[in-house]
Amino acid sequence: MASTFSMSAEGLAFIKKELTRYETPYSAIIPSLFRVQAEHGWVPPEAVVLLGKTLNLPEAHINEVLYFYTMFNTKPVGKFHIQVCTNISCAMNGGRELTQALCKHYGVEVGQTSADGKVTINKVECLGSCDTAPMMQVNADSYLENLTPESAIKKLKEMGA
Ligand code: FES
Repeated sequence: MASTFSMSAEGLAFIKKELTRYETPYSAIIPSLFRVQAEHGWVPPEAVVLLGKTLNLPEAHINEVLYFYTMFNTKPVGKFHIQVCTNISCAMNGGRELTQALCKHYGVEVGQTSADGKVTINKVECLGSCDTAPMMQVNADSYLENLTPESAIKKLKEMGA
C-alpha cells in the first residue's frame, strides 16, 4: 500500500538545507525530526523512510536518534502533551503524586491519550528546572513550575486542556 505521509514543500526544503549546513548528514537528523514533529505532532514510521531517503542514511540510524530522545513523539499525542518530570528533585517534591492526580483527572494512564484526543500524559526525566520542582512541560514550549495537583489542573484548564 502506498504511503500517505508527506511533508510540506517548506518542510522538505528545510531538511535539504539542513543537509548543507553540516559536514555529515547525521547532524541533520535531529533538526529534521523536529521539523517532522512540528508538522505532524509526532514522527510516524513513514517519516523515517522519507528522512532515510532524503538524508541518504539508513533508517536504523534515524530510529536510533528518534527512540533515544523523549522529546520526539513516536506515537500520536493529544492536543495537550503533558510531560511530568519525575526525576529526583521533582519526585521528592511530589512529582509522582502530581502525575497520579493528572491521570485521575483526565481518566488516562501514563502514556495514554484521553478518549477525546485532547490530553496525553507522560513521565519524563529531568527537564532542567529542578529548582522549581515539581514541574512539567506542556507541548513544546510551556513550563509549568512549583506545582501542586490543584494548581497544575487549574493552569491546564486555563490553557484549555
Ligand atoms: S528533577 Fe524535575 S526538572 Fe530536574
